[in-house]
Order: sequence, then C-alpha cells, then structure tokens
Amino acid sequence: MAVERDMDAKSEVQDDAQSHELAVVDAEPATNAKLERLEEMRNQSRLGGGERRIQQQHDKGKLSARTRISLLLDDGTFEEIDPFVTHRATDFGMADRKILSDAVVTGYGKVDGRQIFVYAQDFTVLGGSVSEVVGQKISKVMDLAMKTGCPVVGLNDSGGARIQEGVLSLGAYGEIFLRNTLASGVIPQLSVILGPSAGGAVYSPAITDFIFMVQGISQMYITGPDVIRAVTGEDVTHESLGGALAHGSRSGVAHFISESEDECMAQVRRLLGFLPSNNMDDPPIVQGFDEAGRTDDSLLSIVPEEPNRSYDIREIVIRVVDGSDFMEVHQDFAPNIVVGFARLAGKAVGIVGNQPAYLAGVLDINASVKAARFVRFCDCFNIPIITFVDVPGFMPGTEQEYGGIIRHGAKLLYAYAEATVPKISVMTRKAYGGAYLVMSSKHLRGDINLAWPSAEIAVMGPDGAVNIVFRDELAKAENAEERRNSLIEEFRDKFANPYVAASQGYLDNVIDPRETRPQIIRALDMLQNKRDSLPPKKHGNIPL
Ligand code: HXC
Repeated sequence: MAVERDMDAKSEVQDDAQSHELAVVDAEPATNAKLERLEEMRNQSRLGGGERRIQQQHDKGKLSARTRISLLLDDGTFEEIDPFVTHRATDFGMADRKILSDAVVTGYGKVDGRQIFVYAQDFTVLGGSVSEVVGQKISKVMDLAMKTGCPVVGLNDSGGARIQEGVLSLGAYGEIFLRNTLASGVIPQLSVILGPSAGGAVYSPAITDFIFMVQGISQMYITGPDVIRAVTGEDVTHESLGGALAHGSRSGVAHFISESEDECMAQVRRLLGFLPSNNMDDPPIVQGFDEAGRTDDSLLSIVPEEPNRSYDIREIVIRVVDGSDFMEVHQDFAPNIVVGFARLAGKAVGIVGNQPAYLAGVLDINASVKAARFVRFCDCFNIPIITFVDVPGFMPGTEQEYGGIIRHGAKLLYAYAEATVPKISVMTRKAYGGAYLVMSSKHLRGDINLAWPSAEIAVMGPDGAVNIVFRDELAKAENAEERRNSLIEEFRDKFANPYVAASQGYLDNVIDPRETRPQIIRALDMLQNKRDSLPPKKHGNIPL
C-alpha cells in the first residue's frame, strides 16, 4: 500500500510537470528553458534519495516523507520551503553526495483549514540524518511558526546526528532544542516518530508537548541494543527497548500509539482540533452537535453503593462530554488516572479523572507525573480543566517512597495550584487525605467544586482512621471488634457525605448526578472571562 501511495505521489509530480508545460507554451525559448530547469530541479528534489531508497523505505513498512506530509495536511495545501538546499560538507566523500532538500522536507499547510508548520525527516537521504543545513531548515520553520503563532508538527525518521559533519550536526540539534524550549507554552509542538529516533536526538521530541508512535516502525532510545549489551549485558530487541508499546505503556514517553501511519496522522489531526494555534488564542469552538442542557439518567447507576467496588471513570466522562467524544492521552500509561481532551458546548476542555477501575484510582508516581504535565499543558493553552475526583490517597510502599513519590506527587499539587485557567471539579466518591487537596480542590484555587451525594471527604478511610485514633482503646477493649465496627460507623456517618465540606464552602454545591453536564457547562460559561494571575517572578521552581 505504501508503494502505491508513493507511486501516486510520483504521478502527481509528473502531472504537475505537464500542467506547467501547458502554462508556458507561448513563452520565449529562454524563459522556457529556465522553467524547464526549475521543473527538473523540483522533480529531483521531490525524489529525495531516489527510487531505490524509496523502495527500501517501503520494504521497511514506512512511507516517504512527502507522502506522510500529504496524509497529515488538508489536500493540496502543502507549501514547501527550502527544496533546493544542499549540505556543505566535503569530508568523507560528501562533496559527491549532495541531494536537493537534504534529509528533511519542510514547509507549511493546513489542518482543517488552520495553518500549521511541518517538517518530515527523509530517511532516503543519508538515513534522515541531521546535518547543519537540516538543522537550519527545521529552525527556519520553527522561527516562522513562532512569528505567526502556529503549531509545529515534526515527523521524525532519522539515524540522528550526521556522523560526517561532526560538531556541526551536534550544533544543529542544539539550535533545534533551544527553539523547542523557547516555543514551549507559546505554540503547540507535536512529535511523530515514524522510524528510528536515537541518541541525544530523542530530546527534541521529549521537549515537545505530545509524542505519537506507530507500532512496528517507531523506535526511541538513548542507546541502542548493541551498546546496552556491551555495557550492561542485557539482551533486548529494538522493539522491546524503544518501540511504541514500551514507550506507550512503560516509560510514558509516548502519548499516542497507533497501528499504522494513516491512523497516526488521523490522530494528530484530531488532537490539533482541540488545540488553539498559540497561547494567545482560544481553542476552536465546534458548535451544535450536543445539547448543553442534556441530562443523563444512567449517571445514577455508575458509582457502586459499596465504597470499595470499582467502576470505570470513563463511563462518566463519555456521558458528560459532547457527543461522547473523548480523546484519551497516555491511554496505557499510569491507567490509575485518566487524562484527555473533550468538548463541552463546543469548547475544548481537558479532562482529568482518578480511575477507580485501576489500583482503586490511587495516586502514584506515574499518575502524578502524567496528570501534572497534562494540567500544565492545558494551562499553557487556555484549555479549562474539568477534574473528576474519586481518590483513596497516595500509594504507600517503599518502592514509591524510594522512587520519590514526595517530589513527584508535589508536581501535581504544584500544577493545579499554579493553573489559572477555569478549574471545575466533580467529586463522584472518595477524596481522602492529601489527594483530596491535590485534585483541583478549592484550596488550590479551584473555581467551582461540585460533588455528587455519594461523595465523602476525610483525612483517610474510616477503617484506617479508627485503627489509628483508637489504637490504645481497642487494644484494651474486651469487645474490640464490636467497638471498632461502631467507631467505623461513627466515622462513616460523620465524613461519608459531602455536607461537612459543603458547610465550610469547600464544595460549592452538591448536585444531582444526572445534571452533571448542564452544571459544568453553566460553570464554564460563567468562567469564560476568568482572569487570575501569579505573583511576578521569572518562573517558579516546580519540583522536577
Ligand atoms: C550519516 C547515516 C546516519 C548518520 C544512518 N546513515 N545514520 N549517515 N549519519 N547518523 C546512513 C547509512 O550510512 C546508510 O547510508 C543510510 O543512512 C541508511 O542507513 P542503514 O543503516 O542502511 O539503515 P537501517 O539498517 O534501517 O538502520 C538505521 C539505523 C542505523 C538503526 C538508524 O543507520 C544506525 O544505527 N545509524 C547510526 C545511528 C547513530 O548512532 N546515530 C548517532 C546517534 S547520536 P547508505 O549510503 O549506506 O545508504 C546522535 C547525537 C545527537 O544522534 C546529539 C544531539 C545532542
């Protein structure tokens, strides 16, 4: 299929050439010759490393750089920049290996009518390696994206720094890293990994906002299997070390995993639809496909009566958001917290929800880091955050403590406290201990905090509370079990409801679960002109 698609691309090149010949039929012979040269150079540039290498690319199950761009963008909108750039290296026989465009195709185009900038590394040219001029081409589109306030999508497929160019290629990467960093929080930056991304090269995608990978063809690692075998003796394959599944579920490096390049590009386009073009802009509004006042009776039967029984928080999310359209981020990483994008009354929102269906929705290191980064992304780009709370606390244990749950958990707390976008929470069941505070609580500048009647807020669950507070008494009591049960009951009566918190104003209201959607939409509407700020400072010092 990849071959057929690239054949189409080639016939497009020929069609272009024919239509151009028609257009110049009456021109002077000298002009004709110049246009012919232009056309010849264009065609040469479009062929990249040549037909043999394009075939090799297909044999690896990969599409060519230009076909990828055409899949990403709206039809016919791609405008290429720098198709005639060549590298300047002369050592190691490189003077004879100049290829028009070098190893990256760059330019701009539209996704659903909105402008973006794109670069696609071309593996058919010296393995997509990053030369001095490849770095300059990528930097040029990034600079234009910053000046015009548009997202950048990078399609990565590269052997890394161009070995023959030594420090010049390292410098080129440095220029890209700098721009990735300066653009962070100003324009959305998406990285799509469609081949190797090895060594220090991985740090450009890592700085960007979201990473997409495709099963079977994408690989990211700092050092490959051979180096690992030599240094640590471990035996791993490219795929198990740095493939899409490894990074989508274990490391959390990748946010979206697809089975094919087509599916991946569709995901990139979908994600862009939720995002504003830059930090001064609001996300696009997609009006009118779900009624704002819609209530849902089935919301009454999702949370089980028993406090320790699980349910899937996504069952609530999809019933509340427009058209059940929820784009989950990091679906297979830290599933004890769910994050993703949706719309409410047409406006993009970020959803964060504890997931009782996995580890009872406890906050651990990975969940904290996952949600903190998502909350900060939403805050950068004016996307209100809706938080569904059902959390038993932070994960206990030496593994978590030694792994740094203190500093990682603090990231989530920091992210919520710092965020100035509208913050609305709905407490569906438990909110215990520090985790109650973390999850968008009133104390961290939550704007509207709602609770279902099933909500309960406490320092800890009733069993744990009784064991600690009445340890001595229970140790001495003759009828210890009976006394324990009665104390647990007392604790439950006191705290297993939302009304103590509501009486303090920590919850703004207790709502009928069926009315969750209209309630959130009204709150969002009320908050649409919200302004909040941070004290003047260079930047905070989030516990990284
Ligand atoms: C120059 C390179 C290259 C590179 C590949 N090629 N990587 N040329 N610089 N970094 C060339 C190959 O010589 C070959 O040219 C062509 O690209 C295709 O490569 P193959 O090896 O035939 O492809 P494949 O078998 O698919 O293997 C792909 C690969 C392998 C796994 C990426 O090429 C590889 O290991 N390359 C080196 C990776 C690496 O160590 N890069 C440096 C990482 S450190 P011909 O002419 O034969 O077709 C780094 C530092 C960045 O990048 C630091 C930033 C701070």
